Amino acid sequence: MSRFQMIPTLFLLAAMMLGESNAQLSATFYAKTCPNVSSIVRSVLQQAQGNDIWIFPKIVRLHFHDCFVNGCDASLLLNGTNSEKTAPPNLSTDGYAVIDDIKTALEKACPRVVSCADILALAAQLSVSLGGGPTWQVPLGRRDSRTAHREGIGGIPSQHDSLANLAARFKSVGLDSTDLVALSGVHTFGRAQCAAFMDRLYNFNNVSGSVDPTLNATYAKTLQQRCPKGGDVTSLIDLDEQTSLNFDNKYFLNLQNRRGLLQSDQELFSTNGAETVTIVNRFASSQSQFFGSFAKAMIKMGNISPLTGSNGEVRLDCRKIN
Ligand code: HEM
Ligand SMILES: *[C@@H]1O[C@H](CO)[C@@H](O)[C@H](O)[C@H]1NC(C)=O
Ligand SMILES: *[C@@H]1O[C@H](CO)[C@@H](O)[C@H](O)[C@H]1NC(C)=O
Ligand SMILES: *[C@@H]1O[C@H](CO)[C@@H](O)[C@H](O)[C@H]1NC(C)=O
Ligand SMILES: *[C@@H]1O[C@H](CO)[C@@H](O)[C@H](O)[C@H]1NC(C)=O
Ligand SMILES: *[C@@H]1O[C@H](CO)[C@@H](O)[C@H](O)[C@H]1NC(C)=O
Repeated sequence: MSRFQMIPTLFLLAAMMLGESNAQLSATFYAKTCPNVSSIVRSVLQQAQGNDIWIFPKIVRLHFHDCFVNGCDASLLLNGTNSEKTAPPNLSTDGYAVIDDIKTALEKACPRVVSCADILALAAQLSVSLGGGPTWQVPLGRRDSRTAHREGIGGIPSQHDSLANLAARFKSVGLDSTDLVALSGVHTFGRAQCAAFMDRLYNFNNVSGSVDPTLNATYAKTLQQRCPKGGDVTSLIDLDEQTSLNFDNKYFLNLQNRRGLLQSDQELFSTNGAETVTIVNRFASSQSQFFGSFAKAMIKMGNISPLTGSNGEVRLDCRKIN
């Protein structure tokens, strides 16, 4: 091939590659192939909630843990030796059986059509709105990975990260400070194990007997009673001491009172001079601003490196590749 023939060939190749990476998700992706997808997912979730009042937060968390490891590709759900969900510290991610139930219902209604990655995104949205939070149109069309990325589990932010590190991790996947604060606001519902924050009560910064100085003193006492030294570190404590079953903006009022449960929560408000402080105050005074920013941030998070087009596959069983 001459130099002159090669140029258009390279151009075409580049255009194809760009086309692939720009492939857009769309809210109407299943309009023809599975028009009832949303109500099917909703009905399984509502049924599941009858057995487990905490199912909505569990489901939302799965979408986050999926997206932050190699993109929103359902890699989190795979079984096996390279599995992400069994990698320590997995803490208490849960809700996998309900994702299986949703998949089963969808395979009945529209076989081989809806990916597990889209199930996670859609189920997260519906869990938020069923829990009292905002509703938004979920971009769809993700496909499922053929591999898990156990080694990537370190990409999930830790509750002990400094605010600067949290912001950097979010930035590396295209999420800004407003997204960080809005998404952290999801800790307005659900629970955490004592193990996730006990260092703040007894051993802050590895100093024995030290209590996190950003923790409200009366709240610290309450938590010490709920999570006694030497007690069961898997006991579950409400992330929002006021209304942990509801998706609302009380989380931000808690932060203003130094009553955030996780260190990473409280840092958003208690880090001097941080731009996140203003954002916390804004969301504390306006639930609708929180809801609007939360929906936007969830769409951005759901856009992290999806597999689209002919990449990946639509798994028949979310726990294993076809
Ligand atoms: C800012 C970074 C984040 C950190 C450091 C963080 C950390 C944690 C930790 C340590 C827990 C307690 C887990 C346990 O004890 O088992 C938790 C719970 C939870 N996280 Fe996050 N998280 C973050 C962001 C997010 C995001 C972006 C979402 C979803 C959009 C999310 C959703 C949840 C939910 C719903 C729960 C409660 C789960 C349940 O009740 O079972 N988190 N998070
Ligand atoms: C859609 O699914 C819901 C919930 O399963 C069901 O009540 C409804 O009848 C379905 N509609 C159609 C057109 O299949
Ligand atoms: C995946 O692992 C779970 C829990 O160990 C098990 O119940 C399930 O049958 C497994 N599924 C597949 C497809 O391997
Ligand atoms: C998380 O790890 C614990 C302890 O290693 C294990 O018992 C649990 O089954 C794991 N969770 C999942 C979903 O695999
Ligand atoms: C506390 O000590 C442990 C074990 O030496 C170490 O892994 C951890 O990073 C330390 N944490 C802090 C906040 O210094
Ligand atoms: C501690 O919590 C109480 C009750 O919410 C609140 O009145 C008080 O202002 C808080 N203290 C600080 C330092 O924020």
